[in-house]
Amino acid sequence: MSAKLEAIGLTKRYGDTVALEPTSMTVQAGEFLTLLGPSGSGKTTLLQMISGLVAPSAGRIEIDGRDVTHVEPGKRGIGMVFQSYALFPHMSVWDNVAYGLRMRRKSREDVREAVEGALEMVRMSEYKGRFPKELSGGQQQRIALARCFAYRPSVILLDEPLGALDKKLREHMQAEIRRLHKELGATFVYVTHDQDEALTLSDRICLMNDARIEQIGTPADLYDRPATRFAAGFIGHSNLLEGALADTPDASGEPILLVAGGRIPLPRTAKPGQAARHTLLLRPEALEFVEPKRGFVDGRIDDIVFFGSDTHVQLSLPDGSELTARCARTLSPRIGDTVGLTWDPYRTTLLHA
Ligand SMILES: Nc1ncnc2c1ncn2[C@@H]1O[C@H](COP(=O)(O)OP(=O)(O)O)[C@@H](O)[C@H]1O
Ligand SMILES: [Mg+2]
Repeated sequence: MSAKLEAIGLTKRYGDTVALEPTSMTVQAGEFLTLLGPSGSGKTTLLQMISGLVAPSAGRIEIDGRDVTHVEPGKRGIGMVFQSYALFPHMSVWDNVAYGLRMRRKSREDVREAVEGALEMVRMSEYKGRFPKELSGGQQQRIALARCFAYRPSVILLDEPLGALDKKLREHMQAEIRRLHKELGATFVYVTHDQDEALTLSDRICLMNDARIEQIGTPADLYDRPATRFAAGFIGHSNLLEGALADTPDASGEPILLVAGGRIPLPRTAKPGQAARHTLLLRPEALEFVEPKRGFVDGRIDDIVFFGSDTHVQLSLPDGSELTARCARTLSPRIGDTVGLTWDPYRTTLLHA
């Protein structure tokens, strides 16, 4: 069961603070959408207005076309999971999961069935008699998820639910959350400030910055075609090449950017506009090494850092700017060497803001 979610001009002010600028977005039924952004960018505010815990200053929220802006939280068909598990310490696992269902006056039999199903889903059936303090952090978070899933909400909101777990457990729980999303089929809106988590989990990412949406798209859209410098910098490692446009394009008609004594072709689809300086995004894995003077620009190798699966190479260009390349493990150039740098122009993106 899933529902389509819509925010229309949704706004929140606290006195003079704008926690969320007027924001409109749609989450499709069954979609996994992640709100990603730095601390203070408005993610929790947006999520809490969807849940009904915070009243908007303006705008409205629709679920499957129904205006729920003034509907109380418990009647929106929405479930919420927070970073702090907020389990009742004096209640067993079973009673914690059953609590919301009993509040909803479900029959004994329905409660039993739903609690068993939810505990099974998070693989915690054998812990039903324990108390929260007898569980690890990861297990407590599973119970918090089961408690939310038990009444089968059609929209599930998760606010940094894995934030308190260590890295290894977090990665394991990410895989679990992916599985649970598929099994439940509900619409998920997930908040995180962790770009890797957002890239792995999401159908689409809504990148937030400064109380507004910076860009919304699939993980590949945001990685391959970031719209702004902020988006380029927040997701993945970005090399930024700055320069002026050459007066004459190259032989094949591609516009040329002049950077550090080199002539760098822009993808023909790029629309540079009139600005004096332009910024081109080049991801580390797109860079290739050739003989000096055979690439678009030469670079000097400052450092080579071995990462097991690949190698990161720090380079500086003649104008002092720095680049990172990510290469296969075996590498013939050494620290101090000058190399030519080349890449497929279509793997670069001209940034516009
Ligand atoms: N209850 C509140 N009172 C005043 N300001 C708030 C309140 N809640 C959030 N804010 C402000 O709104 C902005 C966005 O906060 P929040 O939505 O919590 O960001 P995020 O979840 O992305 O870290 C911040 O500047 C924060 O200080
Ligand atoms: Mg938050």
